[in-house]
Amino acid sequence: MRKDHRPYVAKRLHRLIERAYVNYFVKPSLDSIGPEATIMKPWNLKIHGPNIRFGRSVHVITARDRKVQLTVWCQGEQEGRIDIGDYALLCPGVRLDSACHIEVGSNTMIAAGAYLTDADWHDVYDRTRPIGNASKITLHDNVWIGDSAIICKGVSIGANSIVGAGSVVTHDIPTNVIAAGNPAKVVKELDSTQPLRRREDLLADAQSLNRQIDYLERSLHGNNSWLGWLRTIIRPNRSD
Ligand SMILES: CC(C)(COP(=O)(O)OP(=O)(O)OC[C@H]1O[C@@H](n2cnc3c(N)ncnc32)[C@H](O)[C@@H]1OP(=O)(O)O)[C@@H](O)C(=O)NCCC(=O)NCCS
Repeated sequence: MRKDHRPYVAKRLHRLIERAYVNYFVKPSLDSIGPEATIMKPWNLKIHGPNIRFGRSVHVITARDRKVQLTVWCQGEQEGRIDIGDYALLCPGVRLDSACHIEVGSNTMIAAGAYLTDADWHDVYDRTRPIGNASKITLHDNVWIGDSAIICKGVSIGANSIVGAGSVVTHDIPTNVIAAGNPAKVVKELDSTQPLRRREDLLADAQSLNRQIDYLERSLHGNNSWLGWLRTIIRPNRSD
């Protein structure tokens, strides 16, 4: 299918169902969630354990075959915690596993398939003992984690820095750099003369953004009919 043939009303209905699902099922499983959170296909967001907090305007994009999983281990003295900052973005297939503390700064973007773990989950010598070493992960403000990157325990990534796709980060990364590879090393400094635009700059005025999205959806879906949509489902053709 090359286009979305849903009528405008169906598209709006889908959004309302998503919002109702978030209110009914997702919110009770979080310690707190700020206003204007957007969770797309929220039934694919899997939350295991307590101590998970979302700031304002957090966006989570999920897919049926790429669920987003947030897991917190709480047993005995070991208590995990996940804090997702304001305006952060989690993409499909992202996994965060915490037995200590994972702090995701505001405006931070975590691309598809990335994995953050603040514990080893087994002791290096006694493989029957759970958790092993655990140490806090901090992603400071406006960090961008590339597709399928892995962030290991104890790592701190400085503000505005980028981690390249597929990288494995085992040591701290300073601010305003690009780090890449396995193990990730600084490959570039960001140009300090370039202005940085953060997600917050786009999302802060939620009402105006919602109006723009609604206008776009009306113009994209306004001419779609229920019968035409049904036809594309049961008898699609090349022009669909
Ligand atoms: C990190 C990234 C943005 C940097 O782009 P860039 O500024 O154009 O960087 P360059 O291509 O100039 O790379 C600089 C150096 O780092 C290396 N490098 C870049 N990305 C790398 C990666 N993911 N793994 C290993 N090395 C990498 C390059 O080979 C180059 O090395 P060299 O100087 O020895 O030739 C880009 O490489 C990247 O990973 N893009 C994917 C982002 C992503 O996951 N998007 C998903 C949607 S959110």
